[in-house]
Amino acid sequence: MKETDAIIERISAINSTHQHLELAVDESLKSIKVGQFLMVRVGDRWDPFLRSVWYPVDIMRDGKLVIERPLTETYDVGQTVSAIGPAGDHFKFRKGIRHVLLIAYDCPPTPLIMVMPWLIRNNIAVTLVLIGSAVNYEIHHLPPEVEVIEGDDDLNWPNQVVTVGESDQVFVCAAPDDERYRFSRILTKFRERRNQLPKNYLFGVFQGFACGLGMCDVCAVRSLEGLKLACMKGPAFDLATLHLEVTPAPVAPDEGGDDAA
Ligand code: FES
Repeated sequence: MKETDAIIERISAINSTHQHLELAVDESLKSIKVGQFLMVRVGDRWDPFLRSVWYPVDIMRDGKLVIERPLTETYDVGQTVSAIGPAGDHFKFRKGIRHVLLIAYDCPPTPLIMVMPWLIRNNIAVTLVLIGSAVNYEIHHLPPEVEVIEGDDDLNWPNQVVTVGESDQVFVCAAPDDERYRFSRILTKFRERRNQLPKNYLFGVFQGFACGLGMCDVCAVRSLEGLKLACMKGPAFDLATLHLEVTPAPVAPDEGGDDAA
């Protein structure tokens, strides 16, 4: 992992909320693997905590990375950014898998997009479930082979028993403001739906990084093996091996009713 300059060579809107940047990168970044990411600083100000997490969604034949960013951010063709990477570890797939389930929960599925063509090329069926605000993500640029399903806020979706039962592995990304709470809800739902969760089956893909370089502990997660930094050992962790702190539900106000006898 090292710091290099990258140049934005092309910009195109891919739907009403997101744009793709074609990024010419240093040789060291052309071998970035599915699941790895860049920590990027835009502008001249030096600050280790002012970098953004950029997940590639594709690698072009000439080695350029395609990066997906919100349309609310403004970039220029020819602009240079500082990129540190490849950061994190790549996704790990079990041998012989036939169906992978991807879930975006209250966030765009950006960290999960790069894996789609790879899975399709390897004859592995892909289902993407969009939950909560993720349903606002427009999907027409995704590979047509990907089955897309919309879920509700209670984490239900049509034919859930079938899709969960058929999936050999699951990767979930969630809004970074409270990833652990959302991952814990997903874990509970899958425990309801399957008698037992196999090892290396249900992965949470973390995005809530500050430095992204193992310097600040913001991304520390408690696992059965002790504390792990998601930006270094992740971003994907087997959720069944984590201690996920659950945000307590708000307490209802006391309305003065009688105590039960
Ligand atoms: S984000 Fe700073 S240590 Fe992981």
